Amino acid sequence: MNAMNAQLPDQHGRIKRKLRISLTDRCNFRCTYCMPEHPAWLPRAQLLSGPELLRLAGLFVDQGITQIRLTGGEPLLRPDLMAVVDQLQDLKSRGLKRISMTTNASRMAPVASRLVQAGIDDFNVSLDAIDGDTFARMTGRGIAPVLKGIAALQDAGAPVKINAVVVRGQNEHQVLPLLQWCMQRGLSLRYIEYMPLDAPGHWQRQNVVGEDDILAAIGAAHTVEKLPRGPDPASPYLVDGHFPMGIISTVTHPFCASCDRLRITATGELYTCLFSRTGTPLGASLRAGDDDPAIVHLLRRAVWNKEPGYASTPGPVERPLLMHAMGG
Ligand code: 5AD
Ligand code: SF4
Repeated sequence: MNAMNAQLPDQHGRIKRKLRISLTDRCNFRCTYCMPEHPAWLPRAQLLSGPELLRLAGLFVDQGITQIRLTGGEPLLRPDLMAVVDQLQDLKSRGLKRISMTTNASRMAPVASRLVQAGIDDFNVSLDAIDGDTFARMTGRGIAPVLKGIAALQDAGAPVKINAVVVRGQNEHQVLPLLQWCMQRGLSLRYIEYMPLDAPGHWQRQNVVGEDDILAAIGAAHTVEKLPRGPDPASPYLVDGHFPMGIISTVTHPFCASCDRLRITATGELYTCLFSRTGTPLGASLRAGDDDPAIVHLLRRAVWNKEPGYASTPGPVERPLLMHAMGG
């Protein structure tokens, strides 16, 4: 198949373009909406090695993936991160257009410029509050290194998007302060509705601060204009006529019908949806010695069989795989 015009369709007519790769399930943060209080990490030997991960990523790119996002856990905890990023660049000659990273940025300051030079095109940083106490309550960690990490990325000239999960009773009072902080610094911002995927299983529908609530909070102090929806999962808005803001409203307005994403866990399991109950063990297939055509067959079949998504079966998902191993 020609890498430059290959397509990866599912049975619902959705073409996959984006692949999120979890580099590790480990994280140095303990966000309440994600991590269990006492995480049990995967044995290191089960994580894909750098060469295994690059082989899998290459097969996806050959099948039509054009954007890869590195996630975790926290991707900066991966010891061979620089080597992985360097080698992923080679996939740009096979059809890959963009390499992004989602990070908590707490360990970013010392490596920001190296990562930008190595070819990470943009960064999403989780920042759920600008008030230090609220941030610490939600993540279990201090805000100072995160703010340093964000500043280092901006100094290195990288596009940075802030991701804020809004949970009722925890940080809904931060909706406006976060917006104003991002506007002052020229950082784009996306609010994310709290999804029923948290490891402690505390999610309740009443704790979701929905898109309409977020808009109302912002509308009290700013003008907000709705923009036409693109391929991005976030509903786009323009604040005060110039500042782009997005809301990912998986719970109140699911966007499953236009989903163009796939995910691979740190052990190489393919999850075709954030809410899938099971994955396809591509890592195991690779370790069993399967050749590339066999793995491609497996992955294309799994993608084809992708279920409609959250919109068709809303509510908590029961499965052993936790959010920090899935990669947000
Ligand atoms: N609901 C919404 N987003 C979540 N994330 C993790 N857990 C949840 C959840 N329960 C997302 C956050 C974080 C990224 C790594 O994963 O956006 O920034
Ligand atoms: Fe770590 Fe990100 Fe999960 Fe927070 S959301 S615990 S930073 S993986």
